[in-house]
Amino acid sequence: MFTLYKSYRQCWLLLASLLLAGSVLAREPGRAAIASAHPLATQAGYDILAQGGNAFDAAVAVAGALAVVEPQSSGLGGGGFFLLHIAAENRDVFVDAREVAPQAATADMYLDAAGQPRQKDALNGPLAAGIPGHAAGLVHLAGRYGRLPLADSLVPAIGHAEEGFLAYRRMLVGLRFRQKTAALWPAFNEVFYPQGVVPPEGTLIRQPDLAASLRRLAAEGASGFYAGETAQRLVDGVRDAGGIWTLEDLARYRVVEREPVTGEYHGVRIVSAPPPSSGGIAIINMLNMLSGFDLAQLSDADRKHVTIEAMRRAYRDRAQYLGDPRFVDVPVERLLHPFYASGQRASIRMDRATASATLPGVWPTATERPQTTHFSVLDAQGNRVAATLTINGWYGSAFMPPGTGMILNNEMDDFAIAPGVPNGFQLIGSAANAVAPGKRPLSSMAPTFLESERGVAILGTPGGSRIITMVLLSSLAWMEGATADEMVSRKRFHHQYFPDRVTAETGALSEAEQTELAARGHELQVSPRGFGNMNVVTWDYATGEVAAATDPRGEVTIEGRVY
Ligand code: GLY
Repeated sequence: MFTLYKSYRQCWLLLASLLLAGSVLAREPGRAAIASAHPLATQAGYDILAQGGNAFDAAVAVAGALAVVEPQSSGLGGGGFFLLHIAAENRDVFVDAREVAPQAATADMYLDAAGQPRQKDALNGPLAAGIPGHAAGLVHLAGRYGRLPLADSLVPAIGHAEEGFLAYRRMLVGLRFRQKTAALWPAFNEVFYPQGVVPPEGTLIRQPDLAASLRRLAAEGASGFYAGETAQRLVDGVRDAGGIWTLEDLARYRVVEREPVTGEYHGVRIVSAPPPSSGGIAIINMLNMLSGFDLAQLSDADRKHVTIEAMRRAYRDRAQYLGDPRFVDVPVERLLHPFYASGQRASIRMDRATASATLPGVWPTATERPQTTHFSVLDAQGNRVAATLTINGWYGSAFMPPGTGMILNNEMDDFAIAPGVPNGFQLIGSAANAVAPGKRPLSSMAPTFLESERGVAILGTPGGSRIITMVLLSSLAWMEGATADEMVSRKRFHHQYFPDRVTAETGALSEAEQTELAARGHELQVSPRGFGNMNVVTWDYATGEVAAATDPRGEVTIEGRVY
């Protein structure tokens, strides 16, 4: 009888859990939300949803439009990552559209005859550019996951390139920064410095060559970019200017579908970017370290101290172990394992900062260029996209092959051009991230989903090396109950192992916290300059509320909108 009861009970439990799982699977927000860095891109996404597209079509439209209206941050000449949630299959997939090094690239291509780094070549001009993945990513998203043809989803982007958009402050700041290098490349100058100077705010920026490149992509798919006229113009332009691309480099380019990395922190599931991004591993590793502290019970200074110490240790591992997994054995399981984090946590002292130089690892032997863009999409069926796309620095390499309208990336600077030599973000790396033909440079981009009984958050941000810590802090904020608006607004602080200093936005650390942290040996650099430009979408299961929020630091203040 007891056995029978037990088996009945098990049956009921099984039935109940199946029903629960079914209701979770069937759960739909019934509304869509998009948050991106530009109102025209957000609108492009909504227009495509209104035409019957899903979140993946909307992502194509947003990414296509950003390539036109946020040219300082991402574009067809760059690459990026798309983290997808396919609601009908309850499945997450990571689409890696990262740039790859051309076949003629070599480990010492940025060293001079004396073995000294020539970083300028990794930052400016055609030698700085990896083979772009952005276009292949759009083709892949539309073809495999979308409902609409690629050509339909690219209509808004083509329109904005043809008809123009109005220059705004953030893009003009980048043009000022890039003016000297850009002067070398006439095609770039013609579009962005129409009278030979930085144009005033509100100037109409038209990009007819980019419109033509987008039209070829829309009409022919991958072969409209990686072969034929576009490919020929890209390669001719690059080689005429001293670069090393070949038609074969473009023909060989493929996106890679990868399993995202996942972790768990106090009942919250984290889904994030795997290698060749360092983002997901570092975020989960930091959360694993922090899970051993009762953060809510710590004083503000103690909580920030242990968070900084977790950042330091995660970035040490980034420098030591991470690179393109096709080329190096990244110890992913170990780095994600809670036991590993316990060991790291054991070395954290509450009374003093650990000097980075006392941790074993790679040691260093610039100016931050926090470009890149992030957008988040949720559709009414619960499909999601977190996409972080980049051309790396402001206006990438500032090089535009004539007749293409595309600004090429300077993603080659994301490689470690020599062990311990800091890149443009002052990040260092080891042989794991050395340049090699066909290799993807290590990234910090971290498009991320958070899921718990509370609901879902879709987040990410630009910001170079600070992307990872910004996503960490906003994830912790959501876990404490923050809204989407609070997640994008909260003040930020950062540590990246080397330089061995805490950088913080004004207001991130109170005077008292600064005094306490300095007394423990932390070097602090507090500045009014904002970090990042985060875009977040959240969905609350209990209230059904769907929210979208754009970072107040991005001066193009567009509401992330819900529709
Ligand atoms: N280019 C910035 C990154 O991928 O981390």
